Amino acid sequence: MFPEYYSKNSKQNFIRLNDSLIANNETVKVINEIPRFVNDDNYASAFGEQWKLYRLTQLDSYTKSTITYDRMKRCMGKKIFESLRNKLVLEAGCGAGRFTEILLNQGAYVSSFDLSNAVDANVINFPINERHRVFQADINDLPFQDEQYDIVLSMGVIQHTPNPEETISNLFKQVKPGGWLVLDHYTYRLSHYTKTTELFRFFLKRMEPHKGLIATAQITNFFFPFHKAFRKFYLLQSILSRISPVHSYYFAYPQLSHEDQYKWALLDTHDSLTDWYKHLRFKGQILKLLRSIGGKEIYCEYSSHGIDARCKK
Ligand SMILES: C[S@@+](CC[C@H](N)C(=O)[O-])C[C@H]1O[C@@H](n2cnc3c(N)ncnc32)[C@H](O)[C@@H]1O
Repeated sequence: MFPEYYSKNSKQNFIRLNDSLIANNETVKVINEIPRFVNDDNYASAFGEQWKLYRLTQLDSYTKSTITYDRMKRCMGKKIFESLRNKLVLEAGCGAGRFTEILLNQGAYVSSFDLSNAVDANVINFPINERHRVFQADINDLPFQDEQYDIVLSMGVIQHTPNPEETISNLFKQVKPGGWLVLDHYTYRLSHYTKTTELFRFFLKRMEPHKGLIATAQITNFFFPFHKAFRKFYLLQSILSRISPVHSYYFAYPQLSHEDQYKWALLDTHDSLTDWYKHLRFKGQILKLLRSIGGKEIYCEYSSHGIDARCKK
C-alpha cells in the first residue's frame, strides 16, 4: 500500500535486508522498525527530546478534548477531512503524533516522519501496522519518487525548517495529481516583538537539549503560578505575558484541566524557546508561493495558529 522507499542516488528502490535497507552501495539502518535516513544529530534534536518527554500531552485521547481534531479539520477543510478514509497520507514533521492520531482515526493510511527521534515517541503512541508507517528523514531529502501521496500534511513544522519556501515546494512534489497539500505556518504578530521569548530563546536554543528542557521547566515553574492566578483577568494576563515567556492556554483552551494547562505550558514554552529556526510569513507570501508551484483551488487564511493553507495539484 505504502510507496516504496527510493534511493535518489542509485535511482532504485531500497530493499530490506535484516536490520537495513539497501540500494546499491547505500545502507539505511532500521532501528526499532523505523528506517533512519538521517541521524539524530541535527537542528531538530531539541524537538526529539521534547516529544519523548511530553509524548502524550497534546493527544486528544489524553486531554479528552477535540483541540487537535478541530485544528486539523479547520486547516484541511471539511471536504478533504471527511474524505480521508483509505487515503494515502504523508505526515511531515509528525512529532509525538497528535495529528497522526486524528489521521488514523479517520481511516487514512499514514506515513509519518520526522527529522528528529520524535519518531520513537510516535511509534510508542501509534505502533507500526498495515495502516501506519514511520521513518526518520528530512522533508528536503525524502526517500520517494515524486507524486506518491493523495494528501501531504504538515502542521506546526514548516516555520521550523531552514527555508520554508523550499520546504513547501518539496512537500508539493510528493502530492499526486489531483491530491492536496495541507499546511500551516507562523505569521507576524505584535506579541512576537513585545514578548521576552526571543531574549530567552537566544540562550536556550544554544543549550544541549536536556539542559534546555531543565531550563524551560524552571522558567515555567516560576511563571506558571502567576498565569494560573490571573487566568480570569485578561488585562493582567496580557501584562504578565510581556515579562513571562511561558505559554498559557487558559484563554485559548479553557476546557483543559489545571494539570493539562501546566503540561501544555511546559511543552509549548520549551517548543518556543528552543526551536532553531522560527520563520514568519504573511498570508500573501504563502499564497504567492502556492500559486508559483502550480497549486490550484488555493485556500490561504489567517487563523489562531498563524496561517492555514491548502492547495490541489
Ligand atoms: C513544533 S513540532 C510539531 C510536531 C507535530 N506536527 C505537532 O504538531 O505536534 C515541529 C516538528 O518538525 C520537525 N522538523 C523540523 N524540521 C524538519 C525537517 N526538515 N524534516 C522533517 N521534520 C522536521 C521537528 O523535529 C519537530 O518534531
